[in-house]
Amino acid sequence: METQEFQRTLKQKTADIEQILVIYLPEEAGYQKTVIEAMNYSILAGGKRLRPMLMQECFTLFGGNGKIVEPFMAAIEMIHTYSLVHDDLPSMDNDEYRRGRKTTWSVYGEAFGILAGDGLLNYAFETALQAFSVCEGERMTPERMLAVVEALKLLGRKAGIYGMIGGQTADIEAEEQKEAVREEQILFIHEHKTAALIQAAMMIGAVLAGAGEAELEAVEKCAYNIGIAFQIQDDILDVEGDSKELGKMVGSDAQNNKQTYVTINGLEQSKAAVAALSKEAVEILNSFDGDHEFLETLILQLIHRRS
Ligand code: IPE
Ligand code: IPE
Ligand code: MG
Ligand code: MG
Ligand code: MG
Repeated sequence: METQEFQRTLKQKTADIEQILVIYLPEEAGYQKTVIEAMNYSILAGGKRLRPMLMQECFTLFGGNGKIVEPFMAAIEMIHTYSLVHDDLPSMDNDEYRRGRKTTWSVYGEAFGILAGDGLLNYAFETALQAFSVCEGERMTPERMLAVVEALKLLGRKAGIYGMIGGQTADIEAEEQKEAVREEQILFIHEHKTAALIQAAMMIGAVLAGAGEAELEAVEKCAYNIGIAFQIQDDILDVEGDSKELGKMVGSDAQNNKQTYVTINGLEQSKAAVAALSKEAVEILNSFDGDHEFLETLILQLIHRRS
């Protein structure tokens, strides 16, 4: 897809996702108002909205239509945002800037940083469950119900101890490690802390559209490549990015003594890995029949992303 058309489409799709998110956010009222304010503060700060976008693209790629995917798009962004809110806590990466503004804990205090994260995680599942409510004009068939159950299972698994939380655990433990982090260890960390939610996003989109088992397996592998490449690029940007463009501070990894793909393999090899993994992801995409022109360009432009 040509650059100008891609940028225009990206902007439109991001705006559409923002609108969907707003619909599903909780109302700031009652004695729990403060935690809800903190939740909405972190979600509405912006961000690329990559995961809901990947979900929607996979949904349409496999022939999905209608609104059943929308509660899941909101849910995955809530879970991703909660992972960032907790990741920034003083006891984790201790970061004060995110998405171009002060982190949730530094505005609302540490207790509300913890509670807002908890709130977003729980509310993500409450939101995803809304997919069971029949949307206007769409019939809830037994097949659709089963697809929603499969999507919920993926969301739980990939966000949990066998997914993102597992990766964050290994990431934090590696900070204390005296010996050099092994390649296999860094790949475990990247696969779980980052690729898992990208896999959830893309696989949920595919499942809700009725994709079969073989297709799902291919989507999982494609998302693995995107996720590993995405985290390597994140590590690169932590070294040579611009904090204004990124909306978060650079040098956070070094400050936390974090060994990353970049500290192990160097910048040049890391950049080559990002490009190779992304191209492999696109090759998998090309094995599917459906239209994926935008998705392909999206994956390729992530290689050179500055934010
Ligand atoms: C940041 O994710 C955390 C990582 C997994 C590297 P994003 O770079 O997608 O953050 P936002 O959503 O755009 O803020
Ligand atoms: C975080 O990785 C991945 C998460 C699960 C949140 P990082 O700690 O490198 O993410 P940033 O750089 O703070 O966004
Ligand atoms: Mg971290
Ligand atoms: Mg961090
Ligand atoms: Mg980082």
